[in-house]
Amino acid sequence: MNTDRNAPIGVFDSGVGGLTVVREIMRNLPHERIVYFGDTARVPYGSKSKSTVLRYSRQIVRFLETQNVKAIVAACNTASALALDTIEKEVQLPILGVVKPGATVAVHTTRNKRVGVIATESTIHSHLYRTLIQAEDPEITVFGKACPLFVPLVEEGWTKDSITREVAGRYLGELLEKDIDTLIMGCTHYPLLRSLLREIVGEKVTLVNPAYETAQALKRMLSDMNLENQAPGGEPYRFYTSDAAEKFDAFAASILPCRVPAAEQIPIEEY
Ligand code: DGL
Repeated sequence: MNTDRNAPIGVFDSGVGGLTVVREIMRNLPHERIVYFGDTARVPYGSKSKSTVLRYSRQIVRFLETQNVKAIVAACNTASALALDTIEKEVQLPILGVVKPGATVAVHTTRNKRVGVIATESTIHSHLYRTLIQAEDPEITVFGKACPLFVPLVEEGWTKDSITREVAGRYLGELLEKDIDTLIMGCTHYPLLRSLLREIVGEKVTLVNPAYETAQALKRMLSDMNLENQAPGGEPYRFYTSDAAEKFDAFAASILPCRVPAAEQIPIEEY
């Protein structure tokens, strides 16, 4: 446990996608310092097995512990779905994933009790969104759909492209036939497709953004634990990656609400 309220929050992801969570933390908890790690050398996690994602996540958590963080956010949906239940029993720090906050909001959002989840293959196969939603309300039916092409399309910058619209139409058609009224964007990259997804699902379907909901959950957690930063300022944000950082820096500059320092590459396998 680190009771230093002014210590940073550790945030990690398989790569650049977790910056959508960082963006929400910056907007909603502007006084908090952040140490971010993006596993750019080993991305994607979304097609990997539980044991591999757990091994990677453990190394990252060990690295973040060396940075004296006061809490950890697993910004990656796949890591949250596959590794968090084990890791939270192993670390002394408060740790939050993105799946639970998204699932809880979906439970309170749906009126017809039909919820769709789009995510990576590994997140969908874990069924964690379904398990958490039905633990809160067993009457809700959850329909999952893996959308593996979305991550590369977003990283290519094709968030408004006709090809992406075509792909999204195919993926979502199946869910829309199930008459869902709530759709969880269960992958770090998908909030960047929000306007395109909105066009496809129409106004009657509520889009749930786990990145935003996680920032809100983090705010509540820090307040409950008396861990809110009391001395903002200094160098608030630091970024680390496991591969050369240029592409990461360009992506960060394109989506974060402020200028941030260049990322530093670290040898994550050594942790
Ligand atoms: N960050 C991952 C997630 O939210 C998407 C990218 C990947 O597959 O690693 O599930």
